[in-house]
Amino acid sequence: MDDLGEGLSRYYKQGFCSFHTPGHKGRQEFFNGFDFLGFDLTELPGLDMLHAPQGIIAEAQKRSAGIFGAEETFFLINGGTVGNQAMFLALEDTEDKRVVVERSSHRSVMSALVLSGLKPEYVMPTVHPEFNLPLGFEVEKQRIPWQEVSGCHVTYPSYYGTGFKLNQLLDERTRLGFNTPILVDQAHGSHYLGPLFPPSALKLGADLVLHSSHKTLSALTQSAMLHVQGSRISRTRLRQSLELLQSSSPSYLLLASLERAGEFALDFGRWEGLHEEVEELHKRVGTGFRILSPEDVGTYGIHTMDWSKILINTSPLGVSAPQCVKYLRESFGIEPELWDEENILFMLGIGSVREDIRRLTQGLESLAGFAHSNGQTASEKRVGNTRYTFSPLPKLVLSPRQAFFAHKRQISLKDSIGHVAGETISPYPPGTPVIVMGEQITYEVLDKLLTAGEGHWQGWDGFKSCKIWIVEEE
Ligand SMILES: Cc1ncc(COP(=O)(O)O)c(C=O)c1O
Repeated sequence: MDDLGEGLSRYYKQGFCSFHTPGHKGRQEFFNGFDFLGFDLTELPGLDMLHAPQGIIAEAQKRSAGIFGAEETFFLINGGTVGNQAMFLALEDTEDKRVVVERSSHRSVMSALVLSGLKPEYVMPTVHPEFNLPLGFEVEKQRIPWQEVSGCHVTYPSYYGTGFKLNQLLDERTRLGFNTPILVDQAHGSHYLGPLFPPSALKLGADLVLHSSHKTLSALTQSAMLHVQGSRISRTRLRQSLELLQSSSPSYLLLASLERAGEFALDFGRWEGLHEEVEELHKRVGTGFRILSPEDVGTYGIHTMDWSKILINTSPLGVSAPQCVKYLRESFGIEPELWDEENILFMLGIGSVREDIRRLTQGLESLAGFAHSNGQTASEKRVGNTRYTFSPLPKLVLSPRQAFFAHKRQISLKDSIGHVAGETISPYPPGTPVIVMGEQITYEVLDKLLTAGEGHWQGWDGFKSCKIWIVEEE
């Protein structure tokens, strides 16, 4: 088998057109002047200290805060993941230690629950009936127990670029006179600056906002930013949380790439040509399959849409998304960000160029022909799945932290009803859990797990043997 370097080299030489992270898309222009080996340094005399910055890191963070509209910005070198985790650790405890989280949150939010010991108070996303994905969130249908929770954590935008009425959530807190911090996972919207994109969570008034700057901006993979404003979050506690979680040998390459990413983020012109090209794509494709479009705004809890994410549903074609991905890879050299049984997500970044979108347009235009020659017609078969239904929500017996540290044993799935899950199991993508550790296994959960297709399952080592870890009763 290849070693890692050989594997990377073999992959790179295939020359795929990237519709996935990182946002720099391998373009040198974002790193002019970078000496990758020479700059691979960490804390040395004359350089600064990430956990107590006073020099060049402090200056760079300050400039980034100015660019993104924060009062203070922290550079992260353990991905957006560490940002979600630090957010929860930074919350002041309430008596019963609860936090509002969306059930469809990224798994780093679930790990933040384990680390912080906070209990989740779930709010439910709206699942789009055609895409079978949690694309929206209807604030008016949720009951947020503002007074009883340490914070309210939401994701804006979703992985797929759809945003809910975050302004309405912020207004509700003000209208009801609460001071509960609102934390926003804006991992997929670091580029929300300028007129072409929805308003950023900072602009709308969120307290703590996470950017996974490597996803759509030019920062190197694993670099991210955490922004804070106002007085609801203790800056000291936030700093301490980051110090607890992050490496003591931060990569200065990552840090320098973050500083650069902020500067390039202001170059709005880079997105203009891409926007025109995506509009053209929408005009030319879309028959045969379903493409999420601006017309979807206002439906199923979708309030904003980011045109730089292109989501298609292949069900009407009668071919599965993995079949289409294989075809697009082999015939057009197109590499998407992710796919499930029926959807494919293509992601642009600040490093994308017009030609990439033209290639994607051609690839998508030819999908109907591909489906046809594969003996399928639109009416023949609807390829779909029901993996993203969220109700009824299993009962929370232990907090995720209590369940994580409890004694556990692995049992057969068919004997598991009524037991407390000792592991969190999520179909990926998008990684929304079917069961979270600490919850009681129900018939509905069992049914979902027993009928689970091959796909990708996060955190489930008993998939093949049909087993599950449960918490041992005392
Ligand atoms: C919504 C969301 N939040 C947070 C993260 C974690 O970010 P990172 O991969 O930079 O650790 C991801 C990663 O995909 C994500 O989709």
